[in-house]
Amino acid sequence: MAVLPVLRMGDPALLLRCNQITEFDTAELHQLIEDMLDTMAAEKGAGLAAPQIGHKLRLVVFGFEDNPRYPDADAVPKTILINPVITPLDETMEDGWEGCLSVPGLRGLVPRYCNIEYTGFDPSGNPIKLRASGFHARVVQHECDHLDGILYPQRMADLAHFGYIDELQQSGQLIGPPRDD
Ligand code: NI
Repeated sequence: MAVLPVLRMGDPALLLRCNQITEFDTAELHQLIEDMLDTMAAEKGAGLAAPQIGHKLRLVVFGFEDNPRYPDADAVPKTILINPVITPLDETMEDGWEGCLSVPGLRGLVPRYCNIEYTGFDPSGNPIKLRASGFHARVVQHECDHLDGILYPQRMADLAHFGYIDELQQSGQLIGPPRDD
């Protein structure tokens, strides 16, 4: 088990466009995925992207059954997704509160597509093609943005809805227990 430090906003490594993975089912890839899953679990994240632990590769992991940081969110199946491509299924977008393990202690209201299809590969190189909506779709869009060097504040429409969890909760803007992702 290896829980690795998560890079934080301000580290230039989070702003890079990551490279495609070309070799599947290697010992190095499996080790990296294991470290990402360990780190995500230790930090109670809903997802984690490879660049957040310093690997410039197009690889994300996400999913949870019951995440205390997202008490109202439906379960999302644990997914390992390589070289992902997202296609919105329609133009509908909705605002939702997001956090990021690279932006600890803060939350922002972020518009995301409600309904998406995403494709990619599993660690063995088998193709993945799935549809997602709601919070599941939001997590996929958030994690895949990391692969293009985009953090959620860069997606916000109004920075007036960006703040510290405590203050957002005390003022009633953010409902529920602290959540950090
Ligand atoms: Ni993030």
